[in-house]
Amino acid sequence: MGNNLHQGSIMKRQKLPIQLGVIALVGALLALPAQAPAQVRSATADSLPWGVTMEMVEQGKVIFEGDGLCTTCHGETGAGAVGPNLADDDWLQAKGSYLSILQTILTGVPETRSETGTAMPPRGGTKIDDVMVQSAAAFIWKTSHPESGDSLPPGVTAQMVERGEKVFNVTGACALCHGADATGLLGPDLTDDVWLDAKGAYKTIGRIIAEGISEESSTSGVAMPARGGSEISESDIERVAAYVWYMSRRQ
Ligand code: HEC
Ligand code: HEC
Repeated sequence: MGNNLHQGSIMKRQKLPIQLGVIALVGALLALPAQAPAQVRSATADSLPWGVTMEMVEQGKVIFEGDGLCTTCHGETGAGAVGPNLADDDWLQAKGSYLSILQTILTGVPETRSETGTAMPPRGGTKIDDVMVQSAAAFIWKTSHPESGDSLPPGVTAQMVERGEKVFNVTGACALCHGADATGLLGPDLTDDVWLDAKGAYKTIGRIIAEGISEESSTSGVAMPARGGSEISESDIERVAAYVWYMSRRQ
């Protein structure tokens, strides 16, 4: 324990004077094992919450409008009537997550806890079973998170995103300047929606990676070499552009 602390402070002291690039290298290497490409794939292939499928969403719509009798209080499209709008991101009881929506449907809302003064009986007062409740919750989640379906740009596949992650961290050495997870270091954060040069479109991201940014046209005054100074192939440029595009839209 004491030993660790001691080593930690030595590392800190040594780090300060050395070049940014070396810190970047250390950072990138340290962060590599934490990156799980499989996560990228599943999150891209379907951005639904864990345990939720598109079948559940579709089934849930049928239940919402049918056996669940939810539309009697929440309106035809869930846009609200006696019960609140379930299609927006304004929540009275649930917190907007799939589990909190599920919980609210199961327990209902007793009058004492109701924000509007109107109660909701458990399961809407119907006899729909747990599986049907899960589907109804999936449907509401999807309706209230329309942007979650954000599909990949034309020509981009989940596999490209996944492979692009490796290009970013290893062969393309992008992480040296942009940090592991692309959150920025000497080069800018690529995961936010602030763009200095690329405008966020997949095509322009790809062009910038291919051509780099000269010192004169650089906003930060720091140049980016073409292909990050690496020798990655055209298809690896497409892959790493797909990865950057994906990372910038994840939040
Ligand atoms: C008798 C009317 C009624 C029925 C039927 C009903 N609800 Fe509700 N529901 C309400 C009311 C009223 C509230 C809000 C209570 C409050 O004001 O806090 C609510 C809240 C909710 C919430 C939380 C919304 C939020 O903003 O946090 C969800 C989710 C929900 N209902 C889903 C359903 C589903 C799914 C069904 C069908 C199985 C259903 N409801 C049937 C009246 C109803
Ligand atoms: C030597 C450091 C360095 C390396 C290596 C590097 N970049 Fe950059 N990158 C930069 C800098 C600096 C900028 C911002 C230039 C500016 O200020 O306009 C930038 C900008 C970008 C942009 C545009 C960001 C925006 O806000 O518009 C993208 C996309 C990008 N880099 C991707 C990559 C990828 C992918 C790789 C790996 C193939 C890579 N970079 C390698 C330094 C680097």
